[in-house]
Amino acid sequence: METELLNIEKVSPEEKAAALKKAGEIIREGGLVAFPTETVYGLGADALNAEASAKIYAAKGRPSDNPLIVHIHDVDQVYEIASEVPEAAKKVMEKFWPGPLTVILNKKSCVPDGTTGGLKTVAIRMPSHPLARDFIRESGRMIAAPSANTSGRPSPTLASHVYEDMQGRIPLILDGGAVGIGIESTIIDMSTDTPTILRPGYITKDMLEEVLPKVNIDPAVTGRTMKKNVVAKAPGMKYRHYAPKADMTLVEGDMDKVVAYINEQTKKAEAEGKKVGIICTEESQDMYQGGNLEVIGSREHEETVAHNLFAVLRDFDARKVDCIFSESFSKDQLGQAIMNRLLKAAGHKVAEV
Ligand code: TXA
Ligand code: MG
Repeated sequence: METELLNIEKVSPEEKAAALKKAGEIIREGGLVAFPTETVYGLGADALNAEASAKIYAAKGRPSDNPLIVHIHDVDQVYEIASEVPEAAKKVMEKFWPGPLTVILNKKSCVPDGTTGGLKTVAIRMPSHPLARDFIRESGRMIAAPSANTSGRPSPTLASHVYEDMQGRIPLILDGGAVGIGIESTIIDMSTDTPTILRPGYITKDMLEEVLPKVNIDPAVTGRTMKKNVVAKAPGMKYRHYAPKADMTLVEGDMDKVVAYINEQTKKAEAEGKKVGIICTEESQDMYQGGNLEVIGSREHEETVAHNLFAVLRDFDARKVDCIFSESFSKDQLGQAIMNRLLKAAGHKVAEV
């Protein structure tokens, strides 16, 4: 299959309309289209067509028990697919939609098991990216979409990342330029009595507690190593994820000790003939003596770290490093989402110094 890459960002209104029309036709015929959102690029299919969503699993190589998020452009669509919408969920939707928050509710029977991995619940999100909303509206369907990467690889934050992974597997990629946030949406389960965060993201627990009395965090989110008896409620959270090809170690501790440790390990690895990658920050980049540096962002502005995280992991794949050492970040607010992704990228390999 030829994969077409159509720019919809810096083009004339006519060209944009033609591209969206083509995308809508593919979706209505049961095909796949990759599209930008404010978090990461998604790989979309008609959410209520089981055969269409089955194609997503095939294109990504994704385990079939890992459910998809249904993307909508209008709040009314929630009532077409959710069997109950608690008052608390309405408050959350009103406050944070459109935006990087996915809400889990009990599903109606029109949502096929193929979309929800056999679960009785459905994950719903209304993205804020205007091009994502245009695409969903134009398709006339609700769009089931995971991140548009090959299963296990870092999520795509550029259309070129999607092309790298999906070339030959899907007919169309809509190129809307770089995404804004860079890490996937926060997932909150509102199908149970106490709302529970299953995946941390840009919308933090503190932000959610502005409209909800109490929010729990699933133990699998903060768990260092996923213990055998801790069952992840979001099935996707149990898989190794975001994995760069190189062996990665996350280094935690006081900044000066972290830098000293990474310098020492880099020297050792380079003496063995290895190519070493270092994930550092604007604040620390001048403190390293060897290795291949990637500046992930500024500690002063953690949103820059989220924005660059997946691209940095992909860049190290392209640079063919043998091992990666990464600095760590704070564990609250956005830092929690950043650390969740870095821990998974490192397969939970942490050096405490
Ligand atoms: O920002 C995002 O959420 C992006 C963009 C494209 O919208 N999408 C995304 O999808 O990250 P994906 O498939 O890569 O991650 C969805 C996560 C998985 O961990 C999955 O297990 C979980 O959501 N999930 C989906 N439906 C669920 C449900 N009914 N109950 C629990 N977890 C669910
Ligand atoms: Mg994903």
